[in-house]
Amino acid sequence: MDHFLYRDGALYAEDVPVSEIAKAVGTPFYVYSTATLLRHFHLFDDALDGLDHLVCYAMKAASNQAILKTLAQAGAGMDVVSGGEYRRAKAAGVPGDRIVFSGVGKTAAEIRLALEGGIRQFNVESEPEIEVLNATALAMGTVAPITIRVNPDVDAKTHAKIATGKSENKFGIPISRAREVYALAASLPGLEVIGIDVHIGSQLTDLAPFELAYQKVAELTEVLRADGHTIRRLDLGGGLGIPYTRDNQAPPLPVDYGALVKRTLGHLGCEIEIEPGRLIAGNAGLMVSEVIYVKSGEGRDFLIIDGAMNDLIRPAMYEAYHDIIPVVEPVPGAEQATYDIVGPVCESGDTFAKQRNMPPVAAGELVAFRSAGAYGAVMSSEYNSRPLIPEVLVNKDQFAVIRRRPTFDEMINRDTIPEWL
Ligand code: LLP
Repeated sequence: MDHFLYRDGALYAEDVPVSEIAKAVGTPFYVYSTATLLRHFHLFDDALDGLDHLVCYAMKAASNQAILKTLAQAGAGMDVVSGGEYRRAKAAGVPGDRIVFSGVGKTAAEIRLALEGGIRQFNVESEPEIEVLNATALAMGTVAPITIRVNPDVDAKTHAKIATGKSENKFGIPISRAREVYALAASLPGLEVIGIDVHIGSQLTDLAPFELAYQKVAELTEVLRADGHTIRRLDLGGGLGIPYTRDNQAPPLPVDYGALVKRTLGHLGCEIEIEPGRLIAGNAGLMVSEVIYVKSGEGRDFLIIDGAMNDLIRPAMYEAYHDIIPVVEPVPGAEQATYDIVGPVCESGDTFAKQRNMPPVAAGELVAFRSAGAYGAVMSSEYNSRPLIPEVLVNKDQFAVIRRRPTFDEMINRDTIPEWL
């Protein structure tokens, strides 16, 4: 459920008409709903009720300072994957002991940054990283808390580009080698081994792969404890999918996921962390765009809109489906039109939808892409010299620009011309 609904014939973001925001900031833009962000965070938090737990929002999904602050104030921790994300989390007021650091390629500089600023734990992904982390911690006279990310070799049954738990993926260490890698880590004085980490992929629409992976983690916990390791924290990653379409095939709910966590891991007495990104931010954001032209092609009509693949790359990159709806509420029972919905960028990949049935819209009208809050703004670029589009946050009847649109001069002046030219 989200807070983008039609009211009195127009689409609202909470209590603000989307058209009013468009008037204020121009199109295209992203708009997020505070109530939806918080609702989704609390769904997870409540689902793990009864377990010692922390929901660490995977901020790669949407990392605007205002979004981070909204979630941090509600009690969320953060999952970061770069020095930049670590800095963003700290800047939004998240204490170091609520930040976990994931990722296969942490540099020594990023590790130092986190050790200096405070960190809940590093989720370590390889033996070379273990060596660098140990050396860095020792050089700083400190000890780094770690979990080791194991790759359980489970098929997450999701898009190939976002599956991470198969042995062919670059993530984690093979679970079959876990004992020797834990023994190595435990022998190093700069590291404190505290738990296990696993993350098998994103947009999972079935609980079965989670169940398989978490059963393997439960078994591994017992084995490692028998080897003498203290395993007191389990980081279970993110990945629970969201409904992108409005048919009946909704993915499992956080409450079902929580029950699965309790069933598979609850008996171990560990502190539980989860790292949801998409489920918190995805349906909490829209991308709003204006129709520039309706162009009749051969056997098809193109809706050419002012948003493009540089603003929302998911359809081009993952063949992702986003529901696209008119901002003026269609008359019930009105006839549908069929469009190819495309942006102005000069490549055919700049296509949001092919042969999409939707209510007819005309040039000058607004359309909203639903489920665009996660992996939307954060993956945008200035391809075709299209400045990054603004982000807006709504809270009840208020809205604020949380990242403004840069001017063309700002975009151009980031380049420097060498003195020989
Ligand atoms: N934890 C780790 C270690 C991750 O790599 C990810 C996502 C998450 C948590 C959060 O997963 P989520 O709950 O959001 O599914 N750009 C792609 C998704 C990439 C996901 C990368 N890792 C997309 O637009 O579909």
